[in-house]
Amino acid sequence: MKIAILPDNDAIGSVGADLIEKLYRDKPNAVLGLATGSSPLPVYKEVIKRHEAGRISFKEGRAFTLDEYVGLPEDHPERYSNFIRNNFVSHVDFQEGALRTPDDRTDDIEAGAAAYDKAIAEAGGVDLQILGIGTDGHIAFNEPGEALTSRTHIGFLTDQTRRDNARFFDGDIDKVPTHCITQGLGTIMEARQLVLIAQGEGKAKAIRELAEGAISAFWPATIMQMHPNAWILIDEGAASMLENVDFYREQWAKLRG
Ligand code: GLP
Repeated sequence: MKIAILPDNDAIGSVGADLIEKLYRDKPNAVLGLATGSSPLPVYKEVIKRHEAGRISFKEGRAFTLDEYVGLPEDHPERYSNFIRNNFVSHVDFQEGALRTPDDRTDDIEAGAAAYDKAIAEAGGVDLQILGIGTDGHIAFNEPGEALTSRTHIGFLTDQTRRDNARFFDGDIDKVPTHCITQGLGTIMEARQLVLIAQGEGKAKAIRELAEGAISAFWPATIMQMHPNAWILIDEGAASMLENVDFYREQWAKLRG
């Protein structure tokens, strides 16, 4: 894993945007995996800036999001399909229909989940997957105990995650949905590059487990240790419980030349 300990959100945004800019320069029809949540916002902000400056175009690109709540009203701003359009996709030049999100509004969500994996495969697979991480180590909505090889499926949210996400629902845990549809860990691991973003001390334990813990379904993000091209972009707060920091700093300095 390549672990970058960066001074602030501007630096995180800039490194994340560099990776996306390089991808689309090399492969204009690349498939981008998008994460919701607050962590990736600095990256999206910087990518939008570079798009406006004519440096990145997505007009041949496609995108898939990681997950969706089950049962939120169509126009709810926290529906991840709305969130990602409002915070990123509608500000750049993806073509109509280039964004696909897991669909919870069908009679047969299970069939929809299988169809989602198939659509990703038919698009040629995800080239670069942006990820956040939950305080309990979940990625997308794969909660502790999830099979490390899972595919896109219906899941339920732990009380911890519902408490964490209540801040987006007027602080009221009862307004946070109980179920979700999420890419599985096996699905996510098939992306050719993973870029996980985390800020703040609240994420420090999850980041320590991710980077230095044993691979375990109890900390789902630890599966990323098995990925050959995984990047972790964090600030000092999220890095504060890591042991091997000297190595990460040295490795990162060499990588950035
Ligand atoms: C949610 C999402 C995850 C996200 C996590 C962290 O539960 N399903 O994809 O990574 O929250 O969110 P945040 O980045 O806001 O801390």
